[in-house]
Amino acid sequence: MKKKIAVLPGDGIGKEVTRGAIEVLEAVAERYDHLFQFQYGEIGGSAIDKTGSPLPDETTEICRSSDAVLLGAVGGPAWDDQPSNLRPERGLLKIRKDLNLYANLRPISYYASLSEASPLRKEIIEEVDFVIVRELTGGLYFGKPSERTTYKGKEAVIDTLFYQKEEISRIIELAFQLARSRRKKVTSVDKANVLESSRLWRETAEEISAKYPDVELEHMLVDNAAMQLIRNPKQFDVVVTENMFGDILSDEASVLTGSLGMLPSASLSINGPNLYEPIHGSAPDIAGTNAANPIAMILSAASMLRLSFGLTEEAEAIERAVKDVLDSGFRTSDISKTGARTLTTTEMVAEIKAAILDQAAISDIMGAYA
Ligand code: IPM
Ligand code: MG
Repeated sequence: MKKKIAVLPGDGIGKEVTRGAIEVLEAVAERYDHLFQFQYGEIGGSAIDKTGSPLPDETTEICRSSDAVLLGAVGGPAWDDQPSNLRPERGLLKIRKDLNLYANLRPISYYASLSEASPLRKEIIEEVDFVIVRELTGGLYFGKPSERTTYKGKEAVIDTLFYQKEEISRIIELAFQLARSRRKKVTSVDKANVLESSRLWRETAEEISAKYPDVELEHMLVDNAAMQLIRNPKQFDVVVTENMFGDILSDEASVLTGSLGMLPSASLSINGPNLYEPIHGSAPDIAGTNAANPIAMILSAASMLRLSFGLTEEAEAIERAVKDVLDSGFRTSDISKTGARTLTTTEMVAEIKAAILDQAAISDIMGAYA
């Protein structure tokens, strides 16, 4: 298989973890005889420094001419005082919008070997397995006006929460379809006791649910959902929610698995290439120290193989390698515990690559005897 992959490393640890994921993809390509062509683009703070824009047009073009996009992370203190149109985050929001990445899938699953890395008790997080489906191109992140203003002569500010019904229905529809392939339960999270947008959200969820009689629908207020995620996360299968609620709840959910450094995400497009990125940010505090956990990025690359290219076996090989390496006691510092072998980013990548090639060697031997 021959595929073009746009690679946008971004800032901070984004660069380090992306390099790791590419190495893993190269190992997979070699082992399974694929050709992956990587086309690099600038985004975020480093794009601002080089081109004056957090998302130069050229980057969007590179993405549009690719079969899928891998993105590291954006942001850092160097650009914190920039005006809002010159912040690194603006590049991320713009690429999401330009590529019509309306659905962000954030799976939260439990790794037995990491149970001690979570601040929560093992019996709470054991067997947790759900997906947050976050709406990604609407809501407060994109509503206009969004500006500083004055009101009755005094300083004021406005952000706008705007949704078209169609934007709500397509994301909820996707959540129901996903639930059908899982445990058949959708939890729709809103703030319908206060917000008009949430009342339309809830109404729409009810309408769509009528088409999926085999899937259970439950509504949950976002404040309660924040509590339930910690109190009893096993109750969730597919959680669907608007952009900002999804942003907040997914960071909260990450502690269930021990670290933000473990969580991949997939952003699905209506009409173009999908984009795959870890949930974590650019982590300026550890950037450049070779200490970042590359697993979220590597698992994002695995999702790309599965969802964009249909390469299930290859995706599973990566996921199994990650699990094996963790089971063998290897850790990066974010998930480390006493007695574990704490690896640098590059060492962790090397272990995961070695595990993929080991599996390959074993399967060759098995094949020879089959
Ligand atoms: C995320 C991040 C981004 C978001 C930031 C960096 C703009 O927190 O992907 O969750 O809020 O969407
Ligand atoms: Mg976030």
